[in-house]
Amino acid sequence: MNDLSGKRILLGVSGGIAAYKLPHLVRLFKKSGAEVQVVMTKSAAMFVSPLALATLSGRAVLSEIFPNSASDQESWTNHIRLGEWADGFVLAPATANVVAKLANGFADDMLSVCFLTLRPNKPKLIFPSMDGEMFDAPAVQRNLNVLREQGCLVIEPEVGELASGLVGKGRLPEPEKIFALVCDALSPKEKTLAGKQVVVTAGATREKIDGVRFISNYSSGKMGFALAEAAAELGAETILITGKTSLPTPPNVKRIDVESAEEMFREATRYFETLDVFVAAAAVADYRPAETHQGKLKKSADALELRLVKNPDILLEFGKRKKSHQLSVGFALEIENALENARAKLAAKNCDIVALNRANEEGAGFESETNRLTLLFKDGSCEQLPLQTKREIAKEILKKASFFFRKTSLTSPER
Ligand code: PMT
Repeated sequence: MNDLSGKRILLGVSGGIAAYKLPHLVRLFKKSGAEVQVVMTKSAAMFVSPLALATLSGRAVLSEIFPNSASDQESWTNHIRLGEWADGFVLAPATANVVAKLANGFADDMLSVCFLTLRPNKPKLIFPSMDGEMFDAPAVQRNLNVLREQGCLVIEPEVGELASGLVGKGRLPEPEKIFALVCDALSPKEKTLAGKQVVVTAGATREKIDGVRFISNYSSGKMGFALAEAAAELGAETILITGKTSLPTPPNVKRIDVESAEEMFREATRYFETLDVFVAAAAVADYRPAETHQGKLKKSADALELRLVKNPDILLEFGKRKKSHQLSVGFALEIENALENARAKLAAKNCDIVALNRANEEGAGFESETNRLTLLFKDGSCEQLPLQTKREIAKEILKKASFFFRKTSLTSPER
């Protein structure tokens, strides 16, 4: 059952027609026991009455940073107090203008300034709602990606009839759905991996040619970071071994930065004995230059030959040493004969699950916010997951891992 008892929700409302759904959302929050502070932009007040929201939430709606009257001098620090107070932030509807402001650190009204004072690891849910063409505009997508990178959960608008009379993408989900997503984010999750150690490799390795050049690939680390975040959320002691990336470390995750495949191998092997789940999401270079030149190689000859030698295969080595209570999840990035190759990797590296993604598919593989995976299991079965955000996919994979332990605890006397 969804219960938000005692949770404190800072509810941002910006000026879109979908704001008419907000009084109902506030009622749902209040009925489930949450405290709600509405913070709205001036334009939001054109679409929904501040008096209605104040009455339903039981708190005055805030809009301005500065107090209206001389007798209210203390309220101008509200934004700082609220940033600390809130257990979670919800922005619904999120207009293109407010998304742009939040993504770029503007602080010129109560809503934007409160967003900056929120505590870093509190859930922030953004519900964009606007015309479909506007939503797809590169600037809006770029700003939403900035918010995602800052740890916000951006919920795609729904497809349906829009206020303009057009039918398309852009609708704010119904209040019941928003409520369920907020419950999911704010209520404590079932810690199905509590007591387990999960080690995730992420990102690209760099193999040095000389002091200033290296061989690498396009992996951004997003898939691996999402997996580490999901593992920590499920209560696992999570270690993230990552190649170079500027992504922020997810909460409650121990991060180890490495550069080369050999370093990643060295760090990972430290946990081979103790780990419960090994998730190899990194794009590890299969080869490295046989020797690294000191300084910078000079451009002299017309051609330069580099001799490459094989790197250790981390997942393969773990597969050799793996005990029956340990779970191994590999990734396979394929273009041709994808299923066949992924199956071969599952067997050769002794994995329990291989997550196959295709490098040439739109919205999947390297760098994108989303991915589409086919999960192949040791027993020969497979499952196609839809195109989803890497966070959603990570949750699915970690759920499978939890299920593995539920099953082994019933059948295996060792654990
Ligand atoms: O980081 P993103 O931009 O979000 O992109 C995510 C991703 C595309 C990198 C990720 O989803 C993915 O597919 N990672 C594995 C890519 C890869 O190198 O696949 P592979 O088929 O070469 O390797 C198979 C498996 O062996 C992988 O689990 C890999 O981590 C592991 N491996 C490979 C070589 C090696 N020397 N050591 C390894 O552990």
